[in-house]
Amino acid sequence: MVNFTDRPELPNILELKGISQSYDGGQTYIIKDLDFLVEDEPEQGQFVVIMGMSGSGKSTILRYLAGLQEPTSGEVFVLGKPVDQSQRISMVFQQYSSLPWMTVLDNVGLALKYQGIPKIERDERAMELINLVGLTGHEHKYAQYPALSGGQLQRVAIARSLIANPRILLMDEPFGALDVRTRLQMQDMLTGIWHQFHSTIIFVTHDIAEAVYLADDIYILKSSPSRFVKHIDVDLPLERNKATKRDPRYMELLYEVEDTMMEVSHLQ
Ligand SMILES: Nc1ncnc2c1ncn2[C@@H]1O[C@H](COP(=O)(O)OP(=O)(O)OP(=O)(O)O)[C@@H](O)[C@H]1O
Ligand SMILES: [Mg+2]
Repeated sequence: MVNFTDRPELPNILELKGISQSYDGGQTYIIKDLDFLVEDEPEQGQFVVIMGMSGSGKSTILRYLAGLQEPTSGEVFVLGKPVDQSQRISMVFQQYSSLPWMTVLDNVGLALKYQGIPKIERDERAMELINLVGLTGHEHKYAQYPALSGGQLQRVAIARSLIANPRILLMDEPFGALDVRTRLQMQDMLTGIWHQFHSTIIFVTHDIAEAVYLADDIYILKSSPSRFVKHIDVDLPLERNKATKRDPRYMELLYEVEDTMMEVSHLQ
């Protein structure tokens, strides 16, 4: 869909260069010579999905991009610079990551608090997002289980990650704990956000239908050691809706991803 060779001026928004990762002093490598490049699409953003077997290094890659972990060797660039925590990056973790000693409202508004925005204003913006993720009426509860269910806590984390309109949004299986209806609603909400704010979203999922529905590009990782082995260009119309799922091309892509996932599971 996007031919980057025609547009050599595009900046690299995220880049991993020659990444290797060992946890035992170099005896074994879980990631070896991994390269990954996401180029920016001005006025559009990018929706990139990463797939791969459990343990293939998906969460690790997101931690590198968020500046939360340094690889054993290799380089990480965000917007052309070595990654640092000050860049406008938000992350939704695989495990619920809300702050249980704060209310839902305060959790969601936290990023604005750090920006020095007055409470009235940040509560107003936080309420918009709380409504958006379907948690209206829960805003004064503490963000803890079991007062909020697993899926509800995950929605708090999602609202929290969106409030600062991040330039780059890293999402690690964010909808894994949601019921089907909420999950589909959240998928549509996310495509809306992508189109509205032109964010670049890097999204990890095990769900093939979700990957094809959301992605511009799907990258598939092999494990032991991990490396990207396949790029699938999701050449569906940019606007995703119910009709997308009835498009014969959508079905073809589902099979292509499924076949690739099976092939990759045998690669060494
Ligand atoms: N601190 C650590 N010490 C040792 N091994 C680690 C450490 N952190 C990660 N690993 C290993 O790195 C590999 C990749 O882990 P990672 O969490 O990135 O996988 P994943 O692709 O996100 O898997 P899943 O789909 O199950 O979430 C795993 O084999 C894991 O055991
Ligand atoms: Mg993971």
